[in-house]
Amino acid sequence: MAIERIIDAGVHTDDIAEQKIEVTLRPKTFKDYVGQDRLKSNLKLAIDAAKKRHEPIDHVLLFGPPGLGKTTMATVIANEMGANIRVTAGSAIERAGDLASILTNLSDGDVLFIDEIHRLGRSVEEVLYSAMEDFKLDIMIGKGPGARSVRLDLPKFTVIGATTRSGALTAPLRDRFGIIHRLEFYSTDEIARIIERASKILASKIKPEAAVILSERARLTPRIANRLLKRVRDYADVNGDGIIDIPTTKAALALLEIDELGLDPGDRNLLVSIIDNYGTNPVGLNTIAALTGDEATTIEDFYEPYLLQIGFIERTPRGRRVTAKAYKHVGKKHEKADGQQKLV
Ligand SMILES: Nc1ncnc2c1ncn2[C@@H]1O[C@H](COP(=O)(O)OP(=O)(O)OP(=O)(O)O)[C@@H](O)[C@H]1O
Ligand SMILES: [Mg+2]
Repeated sequence: MAIERIIDAGVHTDDIAEQKIEVTLRPKTFKDYVGQDRLKSNLKLAIDAAKKRHEPIDHVLLFGPPGLGKTTMATVIANEMGANIRVTAGSAIERAGDLASILTNLSDGDVLFIDEIHRLGRSVEEVLYSAMEDFKLDIMIGKGPGARSVRLDLPKFTVIGATTRSGALTAPLRDRFGIIHRLEFYSTDEIARIIERASKILASKIKPEAAVILSERARLTPRIANRLLKRVRDYADVNGDGIIDIPTTKAALALLEIDELGLDPGDRNLLVSIIDNYGTNPVGLNTIAALTGDEATTIEDFYEPYLLQIGFIERTPRGRRVTAKAYKHVGKKHEKADGQQKLV
């Protein structure tokens, strides 16, 4: 999609200001990291135990939709461990040699954060297996018949992997992680707390009632909450006295065409297109992508998780189905499914 959507939970990579703000707003400790309580208590336990044994913690895999705080949690873990963090991404490690040089430059106790870990190539993954399991690096020296394999000792390090699609991870790689955790959507209360915290850091004046309205429209996602706060703040600065109250919040969101549930024209178009063409029959991901002109992966990563979360679509063995709740929201009359896939 050419224009980046406000409510798209991915990072707007061409928006330098946004990236700077993300770093500024990123919590550094468990105390500042709002929500995800179950994950936090599991990690705290693992960290305390590891510290007692003077060992690094087990490898951690974090998965879940974009913008929920995976990268943030990786930095919090390193910080709470008092460890250095090395940041890389699956797509950045092209060859086994690239990984070997990263691994040999680590020190005892370091955290290696691999973002988009599902994008690692096969040959790179294989090197990672023994590195994660035994802290050994197997490398081939030479070529052809004279080639031989040598085993190097590696420092005791921790891999933290992050992925939006855990299904794309191979089983052997998944098995190397001792702690595997899915990040959940936040509650609106938690999002309101994140907004209050961010507005303190950004020194913007938001009324608590306005934070509540904003929290209901942020798709239960911290990244979107922070982005909306920034846009509403701009609106309040330009059109008012800089104070973010209910009227400014509502006016700014109306301008962005974001409705009470955080849906934008893209979401509403998706729902209406399915309803108009397929009614309540299940449709496949590729069909939805063809209807909206998006990539199937965009639908899966960006639109779908939130629409599933609020019960607007449901997954069936035969595809995705729009629910009565969604019909009501877009102002369409709900008909019972006839069980037949309509042809268009
Ligand atoms: N629990 C939290 N408390 C407060 N702020 C948070 C929390 N989680 C995330 N944030 C904020 O949301 C922003 C996005 O989070 P983060 O980059 O960690 O998401 P992500 O899951 O890594 O996304 P992606 O899948 O796109 O990499 C961060 O800059 C941070 O400011
Ligand atoms: Mg991230």
